[in-house]
Amino acid sequence: MAKVLCSLLLLGSAVMMTTACPKYCVCQNLSESLGTLCPSKGLLFVPSDIDRRTVELRLGGNYIIKITQQDFTNMTGLVDLTLSRNTISFIQPFSFVDLETLRSLHLDSNRLTELGPDVLRGLVNLQHLILNNNQLTRISKEAFDDLLLTLEDLDLSYNNLRGIPWEAIRKMLNLHQLSLDHNLISHIAEGTFIDLEKLARLDLTSNRLQKLPPDPIFARSQISSVLSTPFAPVLSLSFGGNPLHCNCEILWLRRLEREDDMETCASPPSLKGRYFWYVREEEFVCEPPLITQHTHKLLVLEGQTASLRYRLNPEELWQRLQDASRNLPAKLPEKLCARAPRAKAALNAKDGHTKCSNNLTGLLQLMAK
Ligand SMILES: *[C@@H]1O[C@H](CO)[C@@H](O)[C@H](O)[C@H]1NC(C)=O
Ligand SMILES: *[C@@H]1O[C@H](CO)[C@@H](O)[C@H](O)[C@H]1NC(C)=O
Ligand SMILES: *[C@@H]1O[C@H](CO)[C@@H](O)[C@H](O)[C@H]1NC(C)=O
Repeated sequence: MAKVLCSLLLLGSAVMMTTACPKYCVCQNLSESLGTLCPSKGLLFVPSDIDRRTVELRLGGNYIIKITQQDFTNMTGLVDLTLSRNTISFIQPFSFVDLETLRSLHLDSNRLTELGPDVLRGLVNLQHLILNNNQLTRISKEAFDDLLLTLEDLDLSYNNLRGIPWEAIRKMLNLHQLSLDHNLISHIAEGTFIDLEKLARLDLTSNRLQKLPPDPIFARSQISSVLSTPFAPVLSLSFGGNPLHCNCEILWLRRLEREDDMETCASPPSLKGRYFWYVREEEFVCEPPLITQHTHKLLVLEGQTASLRYRLNPEELWQRLQDASRNLPAKLPEKLCARAPRAKAALNAKDGHTKCSNNLTGLLQLMAK
Protein backbone atom coordinates (compact mmCIF):
# COMPACT_ATOMS: atom_id res chain seq x y z
CA MET A 1 0.00 0.00 0.00
CA ALA A 2 2.79 2.35 0.98
CA LYS A 3 4.51 1.39 -2.24
CA VAL A 4 1.43 2.25 -4.32
CA LEU A 5 1.02 5.58 -2.57
CA CYS A 6 4.65 6.34 -3.12
CA SER A 7 4.45 5.67 -6.85
CA LEU A 8 1.20 7.62 -7.04
CA LEU A 9 2.99 10.56 -5.44
CA LEU A 10 5.83 10.18 -7.88
CA LEU A 11 3.41 10.04 -10.76
CA GLY A 12 1.68 13.10 -9.33
CA SER A 13 4.90 15.09 -9.21
CA ALA A 14 5.83 13.97 -12.73
CA VAL A 15 2.47 15.21 -14.04
CA MET A 16 2.98 18.45 -12.12
CA MET A 17 6.35 18.88 -13.78
CA THR A 18 5.13 18.47 -17.35
CA THR A 19 2.08 20.65 -16.85
CA ALA A 20 3.81 23.37 -14.76
CA CYS A 21 2.32 26.55 -16.03
CA PRO A 22 2.69 30.08 -14.67
CA LYS A 23 -0.36 31.50 -12.92
CA TYR A 24 -2.83 33.16 -15.34
CA CYS A 25 -1.17 31.48 -18.33
CA VAL A 26 -2.43 28.69 -20.55
CA CYS A 27 0.05 26.00 -21.51
CA GLN A 28 -0.47 23.75 -24.47
CA ASN A 29 1.61 20.74 -25.34
CA LEU A 30 0.59 20.37 -28.96
CA SER A 31 2.42 17.86 -31.13
CA GLU A 32 5.04 17.64 -28.43
CA SER A 33 5.96 21.31 -28.56
CA LEU A 34 5.00 23.41 -25.62
CA GLY A 35 3.28 26.75 -26.01
CA THR A 36 2.98 29.14 -23.07
CA LEU A 37 0.24 31.66 -23.67
CA CYS A 38 -0.13 34.61 -21.31
CA PRO A 39 -1.69 37.38 -23.42
CA SER A 40 -3.33 40.37 -21.72
CA LYS A 41 -3.19 39.01 -18.20
CA GLY A 42 -2.04 42.16 -16.44
CA LEU A 43 1.48 40.79 -15.92
CA LEU A 44 4.04 43.30 -14.63
CA PHE A 45 7.06 41.14 -15.38
CA VAL A 46 7.98 37.96 -17.25
CA PRO A 47 6.90 35.05 -14.98
CA SER A 48 9.93 33.23 -13.59
CA ASP A 49 8.30 29.80 -13.61
CA ILE A 50 7.87 29.41 -17.37
CA ASP A 51 8.82 25.90 -18.54
CA ARG A 52 12.25 26.35 -20.12
CA ARG A 53 11.31 23.88 -22.86
CA THR A 54 8.63 26.15 -24.22
CA VAL A 55 8.69 26.63 -27.97
CA GLU A 56 6.21 29.46 -28.25
CA LEU A 57 5.83 32.18 -25.65
CA ARG A 58 3.14 34.84 -25.89
CA LEU A 59 3.30 37.74 -23.46
CA GLY A 60 1.59 40.44 -25.53
CA GLY A 61 -0.75 43.05 -24.08
CA ASN A 62 0.61 43.07 -20.54
CA TYR A 63 2.32 45.79 -18.48
CA ILE A 64 5.87 44.45 -18.56
CA ILE A 65 8.31 47.34 -18.05
CA LYS A 66 11.67 45.72 -18.55
CA ILE A 67 13.39 42.57 -19.74
CA THR A 68 16.22 41.13 -17.65
CA GLN A 69 18.90 38.53 -18.23
CA GLN A 70 17.03 35.98 -16.11
CA ASP A 71 13.76 36.19 -18.03
CA PHE A 72 14.63 33.84 -20.87
CA THR A 73 17.67 31.91 -19.64
CA ASN A 74 17.91 28.31 -20.85
CA MET A 75 15.02 28.67 -23.29
CA THR A 76 17.16 27.08 -25.96
CA GLY A 77 14.18 25.66 -27.87
CA LEU A 78 12.12 28.85 -28.08
CA VAL A 79 11.11 29.66 -31.65
CA ASP A 80 8.51 32.37 -31.30
CA LEU A 81 8.49 35.15 -28.69
CA THR A 82 5.79 37.80 -28.54
CA LEU A 83 6.23 40.83 -26.28
CA SER A 84 4.03 43.22 -28.26
CA ARG A 85 1.89 45.91 -26.58
CA ASN A 86 3.64 46.12 -23.23
CA THR A 87 5.41 49.10 -21.72
CA ILE A 88 8.96 47.81 -22.12
CA SER A 89 11.46 50.65 -22.02
CA PHE A 90 14.55 48.72 -21.07
CA ILE A 91 16.12 45.44 -22.20
CA GLN A 92 19.17 44.35 -20.27
CA PRO A 93 22.11 43.50 -22.58
CA PHE A 94 22.42 39.75 -23.34
CA SER A 95 18.82 39.04 -22.25
CA PHE A 96 18.19 36.91 -25.36
CA VAL A 97 21.57 35.24 -25.46
CA ASP A 98 20.24 31.70 -24.91
CA LEU A 99 17.59 31.96 -27.63
CA GLU A 100 19.68 30.41 -30.34
CA THR A 101 16.69 28.86 -32.12
CA LEU A 102 14.43 31.92 -31.96
CA ARG A 103 13.02 32.80 -35.37
CA SER A 104 10.55 35.49 -34.55
CA LEU A 105 10.75 38.31 -32.01
CA HIS A 106 7.83 40.71 -31.68
CA LEU A 107 8.61 43.83 -29.65
CA ASP A 108 6.21 46.21 -31.38
CA SER A 109 4.18 48.82 -29.47
CA ASN A 110 6.49 49.25 -26.51
CA ARG A 111 8.51 52.18 -25.21
CA LEU A 112 12.02 51.37 -26.35
CA THR A 113 14.12 54.45 -27.05
CA GLU A 114 17.42 52.80 -27.88
CA LEU A 115 18.91 49.51 -29.11
CA GLY A 116 22.36 49.03 -27.64
CA PRO A 117 25.12 46.85 -29.13
CA ASP A 118 24.37 43.74 -27.02
CA VAL A 119 20.60 43.71 -26.68
CA LEU A 120 20.09 41.28 -29.56
CA ARG A 121 23.20 39.18 -28.89
CA GLY A 122 22.86 35.46 -29.51
CA LEU A 123 19.86 35.58 -31.84
CA VAL A 124 21.75 33.70 -34.52
CA ASN A 125 18.65 32.29 -36.22
CA LEU A 126 16.33 35.26 -36.05
CA GLN A 127 14.26 35.82 -39.21
CA HIS A 128 11.59 38.29 -38.10
CA LEU A 129 12.39 41.29 -35.94
CA ILE A 130 9.38 43.49 -35.34
CA LEU A 131 10.09 46.78 -33.58
CA ASN A 132 7.47 49.15 -34.97
CA ASN A 133 5.65 51.67 -32.78
CA ASN A 134 8.36 52.25 -30.23
CA GLN A 135 10.19 55.51 -29.55
CA LEU A 136 13.54 54.47 -30.94
CA THR A 137 15.92 57.32 -31.60
CA ARG A 138 19.15 55.39 -31.81
CA ILE A 139 20.31 51.96 -32.94
CA SER A 140 23.87 50.91 -32.28
CA LYS A 141 26.03 49.98 -35.26
CA GLU A 142 26.61 46.53 -33.73
CA ALA A 143 23.01 45.87 -32.66
CA PHE A 144 22.24 43.54 -35.58
CA ASP A 145 25.64 41.81 -35.77
CA ASP A 146 24.40 38.33 -34.78
CA LEU A 147 21.43 38.28 -37.15
CA LEU A 148 22.80 39.86 -40.31
CA LEU A 149 22.61 36.72 -42.39
CA THR A 150 19.34 35.22 -41.18
CA LEU A 151 17.07 38.25 -40.94
CA GLU A 152 14.26 38.28 -43.52
CA ASP A 153 11.87 40.82 -42.12
CA LEU A 154 12.87 43.98 -40.25
CA ASP A 155 10.17 46.37 -39.16
CA LEU A 156 11.35 49.67 -37.66
CA SER A 157 8.39 51.76 -38.75
CA TYR A 158 6.71 54.36 -36.53
CA ASN A 159 9.75 55.28 -34.47
CA ASN A 160 11.80 58.48 -34.14
CA LEU A 161 14.85 57.33 -36.04
CA ARG A 162 16.95 59.96 -37.77
CA GLY A 163 19.57 57.45 -38.79
CA ILE A 164 19.88 53.71 -39.38
CA PRO A 165 23.05 51.59 -39.22
CA TRP A 166 23.19 51.41 -43.01
CA GLU A 167 26.39 49.35 -43.01
CA ALA A 168 24.51 46.60 -41.17
CA ILE A 169 21.49 46.77 -43.49
CA ARG A 170 23.83 46.42 -46.40
CA LYS A 171 25.00 43.06 -45.08
CA MET A 172 21.50 41.59 -44.55
CA LEU A 173 21.67 39.45 -47.66
CA ASN A 174 18.47 37.52 -46.91
CA LEU A 175 16.27 40.50 -46.22
CA HIS A 176 12.82 40.29 -47.88
CA GLN A 177 11.06 43.18 -46.21
CA LEU A 178 12.39 46.40 -44.76
CA SER A 179 9.93 48.82 -43.20
CA LEU A 180 11.39 52.18 -42.29
CA ASP A 181 8.28 54.27 -42.81
CA HIS A 182 7.14 57.00 -40.41
CA ASN A 183 10.52 57.96 -39.02
CA LEU A 184 12.75 61.06 -39.34
CA ILE A 185 15.28 59.64 -41.78
CA SER A 186 16.87 62.28 -43.99
CA HIS A 187 19.70 60.32 -45.51
CA ILE A 188 20.27 56.87 -47.00
CA ALA A 189 23.86 55.80 -47.47
CA GLU A 190 24.76 55.15 -51.06
CA GLY A 191 25.22 51.48 -51.92
CA THR A 192 23.05 50.23 -49.06
CA PHE A 193 20.83 48.03 -51.23
CA ILE A 194 23.33 46.84 -53.82
CA ASP A 195 23.60 43.27 -52.52
CA LEU A 196 20.06 42.83 -51.21
CA GLU A 197 18.87 40.70 -54.09
CA LYS A 198 15.97 39.16 -52.20
CA LEU A 199 14.46 42.42 -51.05
CA ALA A 200 10.83 42.48 -52.20
CA ARG A 201 9.43 45.31 -50.12
CA LEU A 202 11.00 48.60 -49.08
CA ASP A 203 8.85 51.15 -47.31
CA LEU A 204 10.30 54.62 -46.86
CA THR A 205 6.99 56.47 -46.61
CA SER A 206 6.79 59.59 -44.46
CA ASN A 207 10.36 60.38 -43.63
CA ARG A 208 12.50 63.45 -44.32
CA LEU A 209 14.22 62.25 -47.44
CA GLN A 210 14.99 64.88 -50.05
CA LYS A 211 16.35 62.25 -52.38
CA LEU A 212 17.11 58.55 -52.73
CA PRO A 213 20.57 57.28 -53.56
CA PRO A 214 20.78 55.86 -57.10
CA ASP A 215 20.86 52.08 -56.78
CA PRO A 216 20.37 49.29 -59.33
CA ILE A 217 17.79 47.69 -57.03
CA PHE A 218 15.25 50.39 -57.90
CA ALA A 219 15.08 49.12 -61.46
CA ARG A 220 13.17 46.18 -59.99
CA SER A 221 10.42 48.53 -58.81
CA GLN A 222 9.23 49.31 -62.33
CA ILE A 223 5.85 48.21 -63.67
CA SER A 224 7.32 46.20 -66.48
CA SER A 225 10.20 44.86 -64.46
CA VAL A 226 11.74 42.44 -66.93
CA LEU A 227 14.62 41.81 -64.61
CA SER A 228 12.55 40.04 -62.01
CA THR A 229 13.30 36.38 -61.40
CA PRO A 230 12.60 34.27 -58.34
CA PHE A 231 16.06 35.27 -57.23
CA ALA A 232 15.53 38.96 -57.85
CA PRO A 233 11.82 39.60 -57.21
CA VAL A 234 9.85 42.71 -58.15
CA LEU A 235 10.49 45.37 -55.55
CA SER A 236 7.51 47.05 -53.94
CA LEU A 237 8.90 50.50 -53.19
CA SER A 238 7.03 53.25 -51.34
CA PHE A 239 8.49 56.68 -50.72
CA GLY A 240 5.50 59.01 -50.64
CA GLY A 241 5.34 61.62 -47.90
CA ASN A 242 8.96 62.70 -48.20
CA PRO A 243 10.05 66.30 -48.96
CA LEU A 244 11.61 65.44 -52.31
CA HIS A 245 13.99 67.98 -53.78
CA CYS A 246 13.19 67.68 -57.46
CA ASN A 247 16.40 68.48 -59.27
CA CYS A 248 18.81 66.63 -61.54
CA GLU A 249 19.93 64.41 -58.67
CA ILE A 250 16.70 62.42 -58.76
CA LEU A 251 16.06 62.54 -62.46
CA TRP A 252 17.01 58.86 -62.57
CA LEU A 253 14.09 58.12 -60.23
CA ARG A 254 11.66 60.06 -62.42
CA ARG A 255 12.82 58.00 -65.37
CA LEU A 256 11.65 54.75 -63.78
CA GLU A 257 8.36 53.41 -65.09
CA ARG A 258 6.19 53.33 -62.02
CA GLU A 259 2.59 53.69 -60.97
CA ASP A 260 1.77 57.15 -59.70
CA ASP A 261 2.11 56.80 -55.96
CA MET A 262 1.12 60.37 -55.07
CA GLU A 263 4.68 61.46 -54.38
CA THR A 264 5.11 65.22 -54.54
CA CYS A 265 8.01 67.64 -54.81
CA ALA A 266 8.68 69.83 -51.79
CA SER A 267 11.33 71.96 -53.47
CA PRO A 268 12.68 73.89 -55.36
CA PRO A 269 9.98 76.58 -54.90
CA SER A 270 9.03 76.42 -58.58
CA LEU A 271 8.04 72.74 -58.27
CA LYS A 272 6.67 72.75 -54.74
CA GLY A 273 3.50 70.70 -54.40
CA ARG A 274 3.66 69.25 -57.91
CA TYR A 275 3.10 65.52 -58.33
CA PHE A 276 6.46 63.93 -58.86
CA TRP A 277 5.35 61.76 -61.77
CA TYR A 278 3.77 64.71 -63.61
CA VAL A 279 6.86 66.90 -63.52
CA ARG A 280 8.55 66.75 -66.92
CA GLU A 281 12.10 65.44 -67.10
CA GLU A 282 13.36 68.80 -68.36
CA GLU A 283 12.18 70.42 -65.15
CA PHE A 284 14.52 68.36 -62.97
CA VAL A 285 17.38 70.81 -63.31
CA CYS A 286 20.41 71.74 -61.28
CA GLU A 287 21.98 75.14 -61.09
CA PRO A 288 25.01 75.40 -63.37
CA PRO A 289 28.22 75.28 -61.37
CA LEU A 290 29.44 78.66 -60.41
CA ILE A 291 33.14 78.91 -61.18
CA THR A 292 34.51 81.28 -58.62
CA GLN A 293 38.18 81.17 -59.45
CA HIS A 294 40.48 79.51 -61.95
CA THR A 295 44.01 79.69 -63.25
CA HIS A 296 44.63 81.92 -66.24
CA LYS A 297 45.04 79.03 -68.61
CA LEU A 298 42.49 76.26 -68.54
CA LEU A 299 44.15 74.29 -71.30
CA VAL A 300 47.43 72.85 -70.09
CA LEU A 301 49.93 70.27 -71.22
CA GLU A 302 50.18 66.93 -69.61
CA GLY A 303 51.97 67.18 -66.29
CA GLN A 304 51.13 70.83 -65.85
CA THR A 305 48.43 71.87 -63.46
CA ALA A 306 45.35 73.93 -63.86
CA SER A 307 42.94 74.56 -61.09
CA LEU A 308 39.53 75.97 -60.52
CA ARG A 309 37.17 76.53 -57.67
CA TYR A 310 33.48 76.09 -58.04
CA ARG A 311 30.46 76.48 -55.88
CA LEU A 312 28.27 73.44 -56.24
CA ASN A 313 27.27 70.67 -53.97
CA PRO A 314 29.10 67.39 -54.65
CA GLU A 315 25.96 65.42 -55.50
CA GLU A 316 24.96 67.88 -58.14
CA LEU A 317 28.41 67.79 -59.56
CA TRP A 318 28.23 64.02 -59.67
CA GLN A 319 24.97 64.02 -61.62
CA ARG A 320 26.24 66.71 -63.94
CA LEU A 321 29.39 64.81 -64.72
CA GLN A 322 27.38 61.69 -65.37
CA ASP A 323 25.19 63.53 -67.82
CA ALA A 324 28.22 65.04 -69.48
CA SER A 325 29.81 61.65 -69.85
CA ARG A 326 26.92 60.48 -72.00
CA ASN A 327 27.85 62.98 -74.66
CA LEU A 328 31.57 63.29 -74.60
CA PRO A 329 34.68 61.30 -73.87
CA ALA A 330 34.46 60.16 -70.31
CA LYS A 331 37.53 62.02 -69.31
CA LEU A 332 37.80 64.35 -66.40
CA PRO A 333 40.39 66.86 -65.38
CA GLU A 334 42.58 65.56 -62.59
CA LYS A 335 41.48 68.26 -60.24
CA LEU A 336 37.85 67.36 -60.64
CA CYS A 337 38.60 63.67 -60.40
CA ALA A 338 40.34 64.22 -57.14
CA ARG A 339 37.52 66.28 -55.81
CA ALA A 340 34.74 64.07 -57.03
CA PRO A 341 35.90 60.49 -56.54
CA ARG A 342 32.40 59.19 -56.97
CA ALA A 343 32.12 60.79 -60.34
CA LYS A 344 35.28 59.06 -61.33
CA ALA A 345 34.01 55.72 -60.14
CA ALA A 346 30.72 56.16 -61.94
CA LEU A 347 32.43 57.04 -65.17
CA ASN A 348 34.82 54.16 -64.89
CA ALA A 349 31.94 51.80 -64.43
CA LYS A 350 30.23 53.21 -67.46
CA ASP A 351 32.83 52.79 -70.12
CA GLY A 352 36.10 51.85 -68.60
CA HIS A 353 37.87 55.19 -68.93
CA THR A 354 40.24 55.80 -66.12
CA LYS A 355 42.26 58.63 -67.56
CA CYS A 356 41.45 62.16 -66.70
CA SER A 357 41.52 64.85 -69.33
CA ASN A 358 43.60 67.96 -69.02
CA ASN A 359 41.10 69.92 -71.08
CA LEU A 360 39.06 71.81 -68.53
CA THR A 361 37.51 74.13 -71.07
CA GLY A 362 35.55 71.43 -72.78
CA LEU A 363 34.25 69.95 -69.61
CA LEU A 364 33.20 73.26 -68.18
CA GLN A 365 31.36 74.11 -71.36
CA LEU A 366 29.51 70.86 -71.09
CA MET A 367 28.75 71.22 -67.44
CA ALA A 368 27.40 74.71 -67.89
CA LYS A 369 24.93 73.57 -70.55
C1 LIG B 1 4.70 17.07 -24.22
O1 LIG B 1 4.08 15.82 -24.35
C2 LIG B 1 4.95 14.75 -24.68
C3 LIG B 1 4.13 13.50 -24.84
O2 LIG B 1 3.05 13.74 -25.68
C4 LIG B 1 6.02 14.59 -23.61
O3 LIG B 1 6.94 13.57 -24.00
C5 LIG B 1 6.76 15.90 -23.43
O4 LIG B 1 7.67 15.80 -22.36
C6 LIG B 1 5.77 17.02 -23.13
N1 LIG B 1 6.53 18.27 -23.14
C7 LIG B 1 6.41 19.14 -22.16
C8 LIG B 1 7.26 20.37 -22.29
O5 LIG B 1 5.66 19.00 -21.23
C1 LIG C 1 19.95 26.99 -16.62
O1 LIG C 1 20.71 25.83 -16.87
C2 LIG C 1 21.83 25.69 -16.03
C3 LIG C 1 22.62 24.49 -16.49
O2 LIG C 1 21.76 23.42 -16.81
C4 LIG C 1 21.37 25.59 -14.57
O3 LIG C 1 22.49 25.50 -13.74
C5 LIG C 1 20.58 26.84 -14.23
O4 LIG C 1 20.03 26.73 -12.94
C6 LIG C 1 19.43 27.05 -15.22
N1 LIG C 1 18.80 28.32 -14.94
C7 LIG C 1 17.48 28.49 -14.99
C8 LIG C 1 16.98 29.85 -14.63
O5 LIG C 1 16.72 27.60 -15.31
C1 LIG D 1 39.09 71.04 -75.40
O1 LIG D 1 37.68 70.93 -75.40
C2 LIG D 1 37.04 71.82 -76.30
C3 LIG D 1 35.53 71.66 -76.12
O2 LIG D 1 35.11 70.34 -76.22
C4 LIG D 1 37.46 71.50 -77.72
O3 LIG D 1 36.87 72.40 -78.61
C5 LIG D 1 38.96 71.57 -77.81
O4 LIG D 1 39.38 71.17 -79.11
C6 LIG D 1 39.65 70.72 -76.79
N1 LIG D 1 41.09 70.90 -76.84
C7 LIG D 1 41.93 69.89 -76.91
C8 LIG D 1 43.37 70.23 -76.97
O5 LIG D 1 41.57 68.70 -76.88
